[in-house]
Amino acid sequence: MSNFEVIIYEKKDDIGYVTLNRPQALNAYNLQMRDELYQVLGAIKDDPEVKIAIFRGAGERAFCAGADLTEFLTAPSPVIARQVRWERDVWGLFLSITKPLIAAVHGYVLGDGLEIALCCDIRLASEDTQFGMPELGLGIIPAAGGTQTLPRMIGGAKALEVLLTGRWIKVEEAHRLKLVNQVVSRHDLLPAAERLANKIKAYSPTAVTYAKQAITRGLDLSLDEGLELEAKLGRLIISSH
Ligand code: COA
Repeated sequence: MSNFEVIIYEKKDDIGYVTLNRPQALNAYNLQMRDELYQVLGAIKDDPEVKIAIFRGAGERAFCAGADLTEFLTAPSPVIARQVRWERDVWGLFLSITKPLIAAVHGYVLGDGLEIALCCDIRLASEDTQFGMPELGLGIIPAAGGTQTLPRMIGGAKALEVLLTGRWIKVEEAHRLKLVNQVVSRHDLLPAAERLANKIKAYSPTAVTYAKQAITRGLDLSLDEGLELEAKLGRLIISSH
């Protein structure tokens, strides 16, 4: 894949590497990034050569400092915005990927940046990471799934506190809240993500994607329905052998 301006997409040893690449603007999420991310996510979803993906941010200071404020409120009318959403449902596409996704984040992880990390399955963060949802301060609410994905990760009360107060969370607290799986040094961030990716991709891709589906889809089901889903996926695996 080429001709991208604000995302670097690379493939190596069955791993897809997605780098948000606007370091001069702390990798703020702009329309260009939305369009490129949409293409990259489609590639990760469909490419049999990619078994797992790692998301990270270019530069020293941020994974992503949220929506690009220079484009803020320059979007078209709500009607057009809704049409665009149907054409480019980045977040729906993100959450529909059945392969494991790892976010390796550092520095500022704000707004859309946090929502991108929340669309991933496992989050590694370096010691300098800070998370926040500053949307209310701008008179808006998160629009990339954050009102749904954050409470599923850290519980409703904490998610409300983060959103309603605009308070930023340092990495130690994020780890305690289970927003982050592991805290590592900045130097070890990518190697740690790669160690994890290598371990996961050594397993049967079918078993891995079914395990992901059973857990992520199961979280939205009753226990009985979740057990049915697990049994169905288990039968599918056995019949595929
Ligand atoms: N959109 C567009 N540009 C952004 C940006 C954003 N969300 N966040 C940072 N940048 C740009 C800055 O304008 C600056 O550009 P410049 O060097 O051309 O002036 C550059 O990135 C560095 O940011 P700066 O603000 O100088 O760094 P800082 O260390 O003083 O502050 C933050 C860092 C993250 C606290 C601050 O940039 C900030 O509050 N950003 C906005 C966060 C936000 O509200 N995001 C929207 C969420 S919905």
